[in-house]
Amino acid sequence: MNIKKISKEQPEEFKFNLDNLEKIKKIIKKYPEGRQQSAVMDLLYLAQKQNDNWIPLVAMKCIGNILEMPYIKVYEVATFYSMYNLTPVGHYFIQVCTTTPCMIRGSYKLVEACKEKISLNENELSKEINCSWMEVECLGACVNAPMMQINDDYYEDLDKEKTLKIIDQILKGETPKPGSYRDRLNSEPENNRKTLMDNKNA
Ligand code: FES
Repeated sequence: MNIKKISKEQPEEFKFNLDNLEKIKKIIKKYPEGRQQSAVMDLLYLAQKQNDNWIPLVAMKCIGNILEMPYIKVYEVATFYSMYNLTPVGHYFIQVCTTTPCMIRGSYKLVEACKEKISLNENELSKEINCSWMEVECLGACVNAPMMQINDDYYEDLDKEKTLKIIDQILKGETPKPGSYRDRLNSEPENNRKTLMDNKNA
């Protein structure tokens, strides 16, 4: 389980860039008059993307001002959802799913690989200062368990050996191929099987 930590190091200022301010205008327009607070999750996501994948407290205050909502309400949303990082993460940010389906299929072997290659504790930067990892709850790809997410991509059907190789690649600054590591297309059955009738006594 991940415990939300707020970074002790906080910037003094945060302003959305012009590109994001344009996006914010469009996002707010999706909601009825007086309901603009509903845009809070989108704005937190934009703040995180703009700020090297983590959200400082000043960004939450800035969002509160834009949406005319109390800062504490923005803070409550940001601290509730695991997809918001409240402390700096690596340029390559690995999230290993350890919820039951992935756990049964060996996700703690993936955690072992992260501990060996990146850092003993989650939320710590690697020696190369470009990578960090954490355990998360279900990422919605249970059928391809065990899996992990690196930045915006999913890496699926993994085991420890494959995970070590993927981490080696990112530590060298390479981008490993996302998707299934058992050569499945999305979550199709393996070996081109189309129906259970191919199995004897199915
Ligand atoms: S349990 Fe891991 S993706 Fe759902």
